[in-house]
Amino acid sequence: MTATDDLRAEHEGILSMLEILRAITTSIRKGVAVPVEQLEGILDFLKVFADKCHHGKEEDILFPALERAGVPREGGPIGVMLHEHTLGRRHIRDMGAALSGSSGLQAFVSPADAYVELLTQHIAKENNVLFPMAERLLGVPALTGMHEEFERLEVERIGLGRHEAFHRLLDDLAARYLAA
Ligand SMILES: [Fe+2]
Ligand SMILES: [Fe+2]
Repeated sequence: MTATDDLRAEHEGILSMLEILRAITTSIRKGVAVPVEQLEGILDFLKVFADKCHHGKEEDILFPALERAGVPREGGPIGVMLHEHTLGRRHIRDMGAALSGSSGLQAFVSPADAYVELLTQHIAKENNVLFPMAERLLGVPALTGMHEEFERLEVERIGLGRHEAFHRLLDDLAARYLAA
């Protein structure tokens, strides 16, 4: 397994959660009551699995390796990816504020839609542009070694077993919202 294979596999998990989120915002817009605990579970997934762990692997390990291989941080794909991670954090914060605020679930819809749109495009750019570039510049042996660094980061940042728990959450929500 290489580092980019691992990130692509995580993208699949994140894309499934985005699809669930899209189904949920459609329901909220129609006035369907969605349990707040489910939205909190999704936010936890986005904060911990997508941001802390997945974006952490990219920002702290992959991007610095690309910089060392000569890709500039500013004015190129790395700068764009970092900027989009920052925008994503802002949308996550706004979704959290909507859940703890008094204006009701409708306030959750707009940052959630913006997040889904942003991350869908972001993942496509990484899969189609950034990762092929990393594979060309760094090669399979270095990316295989990098995957071991990823495993260590995952254990340190989110702890053993957490990854599996997030996949179970994903399966539960998918069965509920994507079955039809
Ligand atoms: Fe990213
Ligand atoms: Fe990514």
